[in-house]
Amino acid sequence: MNLTALEQQIRERIGLDVASIGASALDRAVQRRILALGLTEGDYLRFVERDATEWSSLVGELVVPESWFFRGGVDFFQYLARWVRNRLNESKGTVIRVLSVPCSTGEEPYSLALALDQEGIPASRWQIDGVDLAREHLLRAVEGRYSSFSFREALDPRPKSFHLADDGRWELHPQYRERVRFRTGNLVDPGFLVAEPPYNLILCRNLFIYLTSDGRTRALANIERLLAPDGRLCLTASEADRLAGGPFVSDGPVSLALFQRSRGEKTLAPRSGVLGLPRKPSGSQPRAASRSGVTRSYTHVSLPHAAPVCDSIGETRRLADAGNLDAARTLCLKTIASETPTANHFSLLGIIHLATGATDDATEAFRKALYLEPGHAEALTHMIVLCEQRGDGDQAAGLRRRLSRLKLGAVS
Ligand SMILES: C[S@@+](CC[C@H](N)C(=O)[O-])C[C@H]1O[C@@H](n2cnc3c(N)ncnc32)[C@H](O)[C@@H]1O
Repeated sequence: MNLTALEQQIRERIGLDVASIGASALDRAVQRRILALGLTEGDYLRFVERDATEWSSLVGELVVPESWFFRGGVDFFQYLARWVRNRLNESKGTVIRVLSVPCSTGEEPYSLALALDQEGIPASRWQIDGVDLAREHLLRAVEGRYSSFSFREALDPRPKSFHLADDGRWELHPQYRERVRFRTGNLVDPGFLVAEPPYNLILCRNLFIYLTSDGRTRALANIERLLAPDGRLCLTASEADRLAGGPFVSDGPVSLALFQRSRGEKTLAPRSGVLGLPRKPSGSQPRAASRSGVTRSYTHVSLPHAAPVCDSIGETRRLADAGNLDAARTLCLKTIASETPTANHFSLLGIIHLATGATDDATEAFRKALYLEPGHAEALTHMIVLCEQRGDGDQAAGLRRRLSRLKLGAVS
């Protein structure tokens, strides 16, 4: 199927680098839509070009919606909640406005809502807007029902804030759902949220890795327009590294990838460390970096600090943690070539590939990890997500069963 024209349109309209989601992702997404609509290939390509609803459905199929509660660690969301509280203490009577873009299926803005609630901040003092390109993802966000897999990182907020729905999924209590406003929007469009007043906090996580350089520039221009003068922008550590320059400087622990507008400084290009901040010695990283266990994040490569298998693995993790992904990948490949590779080596390589958007390479690396160690939990978790992403529900279900057996202590 010749999709060159469609690929070009996708680059222009949403700034998406199709290569970043895997070589055949567009092909598969189009095939699924053709099947769903019962059209011929030619008819479909003409239809999608002029039908805005179909465009949104295709994008929903194409763009990775993967998200989960407290992605990046509970500590990260608690840090943001404390920042909001401090800001409110400084300026009585104000309301803190937060934008989560892209919000995907809602886990990110809801996690912040839960953290703000936990911090004891009254709902009347904050407003969260969740924006995403794909209508389908937002419908799921509004519904607010999630499978157990959405709670795979750190804290499990279910007992207090969710109830078990008839379909076996967990439904967020309405008191939280009502506090987040969802709407569609294209962050790379110059008209993005033009009528909105500034936001005090903008979360833009796990999007830049999928965008072309032009897409990132356009997205950043919108963020700059929408961020209050003393506001904070939050990316992920590995994405921050991709910003070749700009009007922001790092603020707070490097691992949180939080930025504020620079005062006089023109660039966020690295001086030392990922974000141009002096790097802390590894032993003094904030708890969030070492405890959050963000191995399951595709792009935030803060890796678990389990006992390293050997020094080269430890060094690779350190490089990846610092956002130095090219060096981490090179070292990992070198180690694999020169030592007897273990499942840990391949799993680590898979995570690095994911962080650079090389999904096919990542799949291959996790497959090798699972070949060497079928019960490797980290590789299993990533493989499940990858299978679901490419629509292979059967394989995902099989791997999920294997993971559950593992959790019950029966390593297979
Ligand atoms: C991996 S999710 C990230 C969700 C969340 N921020 C997180 O970190 O878990 C990526 C989302 O980006 C959305 N997206 C892609 N391009 C976009 C654009 N140009 N504007 C707004 N959302 C976009 C997709 O629909 C998808 O839901």
